[in-house]
Amino acid sequence: MVAMVVSETNNNLPVVSIVGTGVYLPEKVVTNEDLSKIVDTNDEWIYSRTGMRERRIARDDQATSDLAAAAALAALADAGISAEDVDLLIVATLSPDMFFPSTACFVQDKIGAKNAYCYDLGAACSGSLYAMETAKNQIACGAVKTALVIGAEKMSTFLDWEDRNTCVLFGDGAGAAVLQASKNGRGIMKGCFGSDGSLANLLWTPGGGSRNPMSHEMLDQKQQYLKMGGREVYKHAVKQMTQSIVDVLETNGLTADDIKWFVAHQANARIIEAIGKRLDVMDRMFMNVEKYANTSAAALLIAVDEVVKSGTVQQGDKMLLVAFGGGFTWGSTIVEWTKS
Ligand code: UT7
Repeated sequence: MVAMVVSETNNNLPVVSIVGTGVYLPEKVVTNEDLSKIVDTNDEWIYSRTGMRERRIARDDQATSDLAAAAALAALADAGISAEDVDLLIVATLSPDMFFPSTACFVQDKIGAKNAYCYDLGAACSGSLYAMETAKNQIACGAVKTALVIGAEKMSTFLDWEDRNTCVLFGDGAGAAVLQASKNGRGIMKGCFGSDGSLANLLWTPGGGSRNPMSHEMLDQKQQYLKMGGREVYKHAVKQMTQSIVDVLETNGLTADDIKWFVAHQANARIIEAIGKRLDVMDRMFMNVEKYANTSAAALLIAVDEVVKSGTVQQGDKMLLVAFGGGFTWGSTIVEWTKS
């Protein structure tokens, strides 16, 4: 039995809201047909197993911080504030520019957020949800006023382009959100979070770190690339995200009928459909995995931006965000939209 942590927010603390969102998606589109020229695959297999048609791939001269900075500037413009107003800048990523310094520090420099303190957060595909929770709590307790949360990935650099089991599944991109205290509504509500490190080896990049440092042997074994036990990950992703939705609804005293959009991590259309069918909310499960594939930590914030910019979210509507990723890590939260 894995523990679930409910992020109880003291009712006397201020509400924290998303006041701006933005994305950056690289221009280059790689279709399933394009991939069939690189590895032994085809559009029928990829689409029927994953719902993916295409993904974006960053240029060679772009690093994760470049994607992150572009999304950040879009989110700041949407919020109508300057980079100098940002107190806290968190980048969630599993494809950092370098081991250190943090990608967040590179982003700070690129966008001119010179008054912010900055760090990366590692929770794989759940990263932007964890970062949002971290930022929310720092604003709620008065430590900072404005936080910039970014999920950004250049997954293409960590994929083995000879391994059809993984290379077809991921894409590059970045999403960002600006968070501030608000006087309206419930904002980002209580979240539910959990992790299970005993299953780390089902989804990881085993080489290049202190466990298995850079060496010719490690590179020959291609340990620097993402490895995944797809079927096992699939089962856990469906189970944990479904349970996490149930938990977060109960925690906040809501039912599925109160939710306008269920925004799940975009790993696979079949995972999203399985969750939607189990909870009988398929008509409100948002999906854009067809266009961008799995952009890991970036996926949730890219999806939130798309939902919001589609104009289908009105003042007071609630979005339920849920994620699952390597670690394993998972979590969920509910956002009451209060930005007009
Ligand atoms: O971000 C969070 C983490 N990621 C996920 O949540 C992903 C979770 N897992 C999945 O989405 C699915 O398990 C996959 C999409 C990865 C795989 O789908 P599946 O239906 O579970 O397929 P499978 O792994 O059982 O593979 C079936 C067959 C295998 O052939 P054999 O051994 O049965 O002959 C694979 O070799 O499909 C083969 N295969 C491919 N064939 C064509 C694997 N990749 C490909 C490919 N093209 N790209």
